[in-house]
Amino acid sequence: MSQLVTAVDLVQAALAVRQRAYAPYSNYRVGSAVLTHDGTVIVGCNVENASYPATICAERVALTAAVAQGHRAFTAIAVATLNGGTPCGICRQVMAELGPAMTVYISDAAGNFRTTTVDELLPGAFRGDSLVT
Ligand code: THU
Repeated sequence: MSQLVTAVDLVQAALAVRQRAYAPYSNYRVGSAVLTHDGTVIVGCNVENASYPATICAERVALTAAVAQGHRAFTAIAVATLNGGTPCGICRQVMAELGPAMTVYISDAAGNFRTTTVDELLPGAFRGDSLVT
């Protein structure tokens, strides 16, 4: 965790961007904020689609935006939902790819959060070094 950006800061950023969620189908709004090694915070929200599988989760919006902005090293990610729901399996897989050492903060809409890790969320993840041919 950066000395400048606290866990509470990251959760607050996820809560704020949650308000921008485009979730007309589920009405389940999700916000996420990722912290880079250099202390930058990059946010994402879920973006749904009438063709449901085209929906993108908040965590993957944040992480892929961060990569597009030139970041490759991540220390933490916060996820905010109404009820403190946990990240989906696909997002766990993307976390394992891009930020395997990240701390994960899972918050409800009131800002009550618990702290876990990518390793705890996805033990035994399939990784690039599994791709042996
Ligand atoms: N969702 C996320 O944004 N992140 C997750 O980890 C779980 C699910 C979104 C996708 C969809 O827009 C809505 O929540 C309901 O599944």
